[in-house]
Amino acid sequence: ETWFTQNQKLKGKKVLITAGGTMERLDPVRYLTNDSSGKMGFAIAEAAQLMGADVTLVAGRTTEQPPKGVKVIRTQSAADMLDVVVNEFQNADIVVKAAAVADYRPAVVHEQKLKKTGESLVLELERTTDILATIGERKSHQFLVGFAAETEYLERHAMDKLQRKHCDLIVANDVSQDGVGFNGDTNAVEVYGPEGLVEALPLMSKRATAVRLMELISERIAAGGG
Ligand code: CTP
Ligand code: CA
Repeated sequence: ETWFTQNQKLKGKKVLITAGGTMERLDPVRYLTNDSSGKMGFAIAEAAQLMGADVTLVAGRTTEQPPKGVKVIRTQSAADMLDVVVNEFQNADIVVKAAAVADYRPAVVHEQKLKKTGESLVLELERTTDILATIGERKSHQFLVGFAAETEYLERHAMDKLQRKHCDLIVANDVSQDGVGFNGDTNAVEVYGPEGLVEALPLMSKRATAVRLMELISERIAAGGG
């Protein structure tokens, strides 16, 4: 850990990170969620903390243990996470949105367990609010980093999300590649800024990916970006 004690590049910075998948209730025993272990977000929280930042981690569904010294706020639905993030981001210098947020939730949340009836069931879903786009519209001094999980046209989708959500960086991964994205301990990401590709990181541990990402962020803030 000596590298970290010498590289306190985020000293004094308040970093807000979201991680894990959201859970959208259908009834007391069922919910919709998505593939996300929370590992990438937790690794980012750990890296930021080791680099001297004051870290708040907003966690959805995950089995990861939070790093020591990090303030953790647990949430379930996209709506819960939206409330917490909107409240917390005012005080943040850097926001990293690694959470896999549901795009849709059940239109009706049943108070009692649904009993099976017919041979098929159609669920009606409604859109959730885009948390990143919401804070993107309201940001002032914050440096905003979003993620993009894609299976094709990585660059085009990443640049589109960067502009649409007013982000300073987008961390894009091609989740159709082996060893990339959800659940595993490794990742290979491409980082995009307003000018296009900033850096393509090789396949490596999520911890190493997190450290490089936080370094890139601190370099760009030091250079006056954001
Ligand atoms: N995101 C969010 N709130 C949502 C959906 C997504 O804050 N309701 C954030 C994610 O945390 C991530 C970024 O937006 O940082 C991109 O998420 P992604 O699912 O890749 O993109 P979407 O904009 O939802 O587009 P699509 O799923 O259709 O590709
Ligand atoms: Ca989505």
